[in-house]
Amino acid sequence: MPKQRTLVLCKPDAVQRGVVGQIVARFERKGLKIAGMKMVALDQEMAARHYAEHLNKPFYPGLRSFITSCPVVALAVEGENAVEVVRNLIGVTNPQNAASGTIRGDFGLNLTMNLVHGSDSRASAERELALFFSADELFDYELTMREWM
Ligand code: RTP
Ligand code: MG
Repeated sequence: MPKQRTLVLCKPDAVQRGVVGQIVARFERKGLKIAGMKMVALDQEMAARHYAEHLNKPFYPGLRSFITSCPVVALAVEGENAVEVVRNLIGVTNPQNAASGTIRGDFGLNLTMNLVHGSDSRASAERELALFFSADELFDYELTMREWM
């Protein structure tokens, strides 16, 4: 099985509410590997690059203002089918509709402040990981628990 990685951001509301640890714990508990992790303050340019597909949407100014309001915690999350598995753990975009048991379903109510980002495809994951992490910030190591998962 080829290694698959995806980008997760614990958004400003997660940092402000002090739930970054609880969010990271969900990915760890699932058996996914953290291949990289760092705090990043997005400026306007970085926000525009990350959310390039939304630049012309009416909600973009609000999204930009939110995502640049406080540093985020960025994670490179690795595992079998990581892109899809992470999106399923996060839940649908609007926390009011997200299933219980998902991060958005359990932690939030607000469409903009929906706690966490996950890349939506393998192509997005590659692009977004390159945006947030340099090669020497991503780590290859074995998880000793792997044979038990
Ligand atoms: P994300 O990229 O942050 O992981 O979220 P997503 O894939 O579930 O949703 P996406 O469509 O990519 O939207 C990016 C973020 O923009 C905000 N949003 N607001 N109608 C609206 O007001 C609206 N739609 C989307 C959300 O914060 C969403 O996470
Ligand atoms: Mg998205």
